[in-house]
Amino acid sequence: MRTQVGIIGSGPSGLLLSQILHHHGIESVIMERQSRDHVLGRIRAGVLEQSTVDMLRAAGVGERMDREGLVHGGFHLAFDGRMEYIDMQKWTGGNSVMVYGQTEVTSDLIEKRLSDGGIIEYEAPAVAIENFLDGKPRVIFEKDGGRQQLDCDFVAGCDGYHGVSRKSIDPGSIKELERVYPFGWLGILADVPPVDRELIYINHERGFALCSMRSHTRSRFYIQCDLTDSVDNWTDEAFWEELRRRLPEAAAQKLVTGPRLEMSIAPLRSFVAEPMRFGNLFLAGDAAHIVPPTGAKGLNLAASDIHYLSRALIAYYSENRTDLLDRYSDTCLLRVWKAVRFSWWFTAMMHKFEDDPLSPRLQRAELDYLTGSEAARTMMAENYVGLPFEPFE
Ligand code: APR
Ligand code: PHB
Repeated sequence: MRTQVGIIGSGPSGLLLSQILHHHGIESVIMERQSRDHVLGRIRAGVLEQSTVDMLRAAGVGERMDREGLVHGGFHLAFDGRMEYIDMQKWTGGNSVMVYGQTEVTSDLIEKRLSDGGIIEYEAPAVAIENFLDGKPRVIFEKDGGRQQLDCDFVAGCDGYHGVSRKSIDPGSIKELERVYPFGWLGILADVPPVDRELIYINHERGFALCSMRSHTRSRFYIQCDLTDSVDNWTDEAFWEELRRRLPEAAAQKLVTGPRLEMSIAPLRSFVAEPMRFGNLFLAGDAAHIVPPTGAKGLNLAASDIHYLSRALIAYYSENRTDLLDRYSDTCLLRVWKAVRFSWWFTAMMHKFEDDPLSPRLQRAELDYLTGSEAARTMMAENYVGLPFEPFE
């Protein structure tokens, strides 16, 4: 098999890249380790920055998002018996975010890709990437019990944190920086109405909690849990009870409970691999970086990598330019580190840190300062709605 761009992974990064390239007449093939049902069954975050929304629209997958997504102009921070509103629209000159699940984004992209004749090989794990430093890369993958080879001009490693792309790089050429947080998020998805029109992030002495949603009738809630915890330890009733204890009074009164559609635990980590380009192999999305979910930057960072990578590949194929490919890593990392910073800061301000006696007081001071200062609210609002992309010449 031969194609122009070999894409490993059919998460949001790989699918979006393939769709944008298709619009510019560039061929690609996606190889995905899992089945299509498995990919569509994963529940992830659901807050899209304006620039992600714009990219999805431009890729031709904005229709259902615009119909079913919920536009949010702000969110609440609850702490110390208070509930404060961060009015994003006010502090960013009118910007907002779109609440629309990553599962739906993925589903819309798969459908569009396939209806446009795109090739997605499911249950086809890539096992090695070869020759990417010599200009003639090839991806070795398994399919139907045998090994096959995909020759291409470029390989996009969109295969997430556990993928093969990053692992194919000589350890001496890549720097991996990581922080693992000493807690996780226990999440529940249920067909119950949200407790508020917008999201509530809660700093509580028992631990962080978040009230989020997927629609007017489907909600997503999280509570901070121990890293050693397991969903087997939690009945639905126990989850709702613990959540209720952490909610502000007004939200607790409005909480409607119901049986879980899904329950899972996510560990929290900050991780960045540098650089993001190795010859003709480009890392994008979770393959190159992970942020803790506080602030929902993961999917949005994946989209901004794809913005830069697609532009660079289009410039190469249409104008024979290589400068954007050369700058891909540096350009991506500028925005990546700002999102890593924001997600770390938001996480540090909202969670319970067992081994730090200063932490509760420092958090209260930070939250009091933040909600009382126009400058600080503006900082938070402009990061939450998403920082601008670097311009192209
Ligand atoms: N061969 C083929 N596919 C692979 C391989 C492999 N060796 N290894 C992993 N994959 C697939 C995974 O099965 C998955 O479908 O790559 C895909 C990676 O998708 P994501 O993990 O969703 O990563 P990405 O597309 O970069 O999306 C980033 O997802 O995890 C969230 O917070 C993250 O929201 C962000 C978004
Ligand atoms: C979610 O709805 O899953 C969600 C929302 C906001 C976050 C993280 C997760 O910051």
